[in-house]
Amino acid sequence: MKRFIALSLLAMASVPVAAQDLSPQLQASRAAIQQFAQSLQGELQAAMQAGGPVQAIEICSDRAPEIASQVSRERGVEIGRTSLKIRNPNNQPDVWERQVLEEFDARRAAGENPAHIETQAIYIRGEEKEYRFMKAIPTGEVCLNCHGAQVAAPVEDALKRLYPRDAARGYEIGDLRGAFIVRQPM
Ligand code: HEC
Repeated sequence: MKRFIALSLLAMASVPVAAQDLSPQLQASRAAIQQFAQSLQGELQAAMQAGGPVQAIEICSDRAPEIASQVSRERGVEIGRTSLKIRNPNNQPDVWERQVLEEFDARRAAGENPAHIETQAIYIRGEEKEYRFMKAIPTGEVCLNCHGAQVAAPVEDALKRLYPRDAARGYEIGDLRGAFIVRQPM
């Protein structure tokens, strides 16, 4: 049975387990997310400008997992992206991640600014402890080219070919598309 100790970032100081200083893990997580997000966004933008969304799909499809592995290796963490409605089956959330994603959607619905929706936790499995950090990813206008309800016909065809079980559609601006997840051994 897995046990979770969730610490709200804001309430951290008042939670007993926070006697442990988690700021190094938090900083490392933020840095990894920034590197991943910036590289991917840069390549996505360049591909959109060069060849439009169809060409950019190949970039997302090949480069998103590659950049995630590269950043993970470089920084000694495990970084990825996940969602309640996934496109890539490898991005499936586990039980805890699913709970956090649902909580993020509820926080968003309650009016919280998506740019600040995040959470950290110490995840305990038997003798092993893992630090986990998740940060919400809001949907912007450019995302609708490939994650909106209506996409161009060639995009639709490419998505069907690459992701026959794609669920990552129907998003609107401001929705949470998913979250970054960073795991670090403790
Ligand atoms: C050119 C098409 C395209 C655009 C534009 C695009 N995506 Fe994606 N997105 C993809 C593809 C393809 C994947 C699967 C890649 C992978 O393995 O992570 C994906 C996967 C994701 C995932 C990982 C979860 C999952 O569903 O597998 C997130 C989160 C995500 N996109 C968010 C966004 C956000 C936020 C934007 C806008 C800033 C965006 N995407 C724009 C094509 C696109």
